[in-house]
Amino acid sequence: MSSQQTLILVKPDGVKRGLVGEVIARVERKGYKVSNLKMLTADKSILAKHYAEHEGKPFYEPLMEFMMSGPIVAIIAEGERVIEGFRKLAGTTDPTTAEPGTIRGDLARDMGTKVVQNIVHGSDSPESAEREIKIFFGN
Ligand code: RTP
Ligand code: MG
Repeated sequence: MSSQQTLILVKPDGVKRGLVGEVIARVERKGYKVSNLKMLTADKSILAKHYAEHEGKPFYEPLMEFMMSGPIVAIIAEGERVIEGFRKLAGTTDPTTAEPGTIRGDLARDMGTKVVQNIVHGSDSPESAEREIKIFFGN
């Protein structure tokens, strides 16, 4: 497979806890290239686009609120199969049971919050990556 790009977000919990460098270090140590990056505070319209697939789900509103609760860092990472590779680095959605060795498994756990806070987002397919990169970085 040829080189890909993926969108990574360090979510508000990751930024608040000072884990931006840790996330980037893991991405770079794996051999992926950080090709763009910015800090922003997301508003409702950007998140409605980003999380359109989850609209109507019980965790949608708490997720939107959580994602607006502080600054986030948006990162474009590049490399062969980076979409799959970063999802593997991130670990499964539930941080309590995410494998040790992963970002979520090593650095997060269930804190009893309304929505699970798990430090990072990573695009889940080439179509999602293209769509999400446009949302956060434009064309
Ligand atoms: P992400 O999109 O953030 O990379 O995470 P993911 O693919 O592993 O999880 P996804 O199903 O896309 O859900 C997006 C985010 O919503 C929160 N969530 N909470 N049952 C729940 O409480 C629940 N399910 C999902 C998490 O923050 C998840 O990362
Ligand atoms: Mg997802």
